[in-house]
Amino acid sequence: MANPAITLKQLKLLDAIVRHNSFSLAAKEMYLSQPAVSLQIKSLEEAIGQPLFEKINKQIRLTEVGKIVLDTAHSVHRHIEKMHAGLDYLTGEVIGSLDIAVVTSAKYFLPSFLGEFLQLYPKVIPRLTVTNQATMLKALSQDQHNLYIMGQIPKSLKVKSRPFLENILEVVASPHHPLCQKKNISLSRLAKERFLVREVGSGTRKATNKIFSSRNITVKPYMELGDTGAIKNAVMADLGVAVLSRHSIRLELETGKIAILKATGFPLHRHWYAIYPSEKSLSIVTRTFLEFLMTKETV
Ligand code: PGA
Repeated sequence: MANPAITLKQLKLLDAIVRHNSFSLAAKEMYLSQPAVSLQIKSLEEAIGQPLFEKINKQIRLTEVGKIVLDTAHSVHRHIEKMHAGLDYLTGEVIGSLDIAVVTSAKYFLPSFLGEFLQLYPKVIPRLTVTNQATMLKALSQDQHNLYIMGQIPKSLKVKSRPFLENILEVVASPHHPLCQKKNISLSRLAKERFLVREVGSGTRKATNKIFSSRNITVKPYMELGDTGAIKNAVMADLGVAVLSRHSIRLELETGKIAILKATGFPLHRHWYAIYPSEKSLSIVTRTFLEFLMTKETV
């Protein structure tokens, strides 16, 4: 009997299993039952003629053959994307899905840009994922979204990037904090404060550590909060100081609930970047959104 044919669905499933490192999570993502997923992978293995997964210490791992099939799955995915991009270009209509991932600190301005964009192009179906820098890098390496908004260009991945908006990081405190009256606060003085920090994996945390460590100063976190909103509330409650993007504290600054400390080396001037894998063909929707972002107070 001839080998069964390989299907696109099987390749998509393989990618989902590897991304989640789990058959059951992949089944959930693809709206299938777990036995259905196992069956699909079994027939993919029959078509290939070799196992794609092996179990080591109860962990599933791709075999060498599995890795080659996964690479092929990714390149098939890229070709299909390219085909769609070409077809979109022919029809010229800005219609279809727009799947954007943004780092936590960018969630304060991106939705309003998206809102404006949807007024112009109501047939676009948006999807916004908010995550920290570390998770974003993983998603980028696996090509999970159409466009990625972050505060740093990843060095470890082949990407194209477009800067579009200034990202200013400030040291902030409650307006009642004694340091609010001081100027030129040194970093060593600042490091003695109770620092409220984001989780490991946050780009803001990394940038903060970098400036302190460039002067051989270590910031000892007083409290780690996995969310910018929680940090803002803790700052307002005078629990400590924090480094935050000015975009995330616009309202609190306007209403005088949070104050900026005048520390040496701050503010940090960075940029927001729209990023995508170099080899990716952008759909007309993504390209139009990218150009729209560039109209926003560019560098
Ligand atoms: P974060 O990223 O929200 O993970 O801190 C910010 C950034 O990339 O600058």
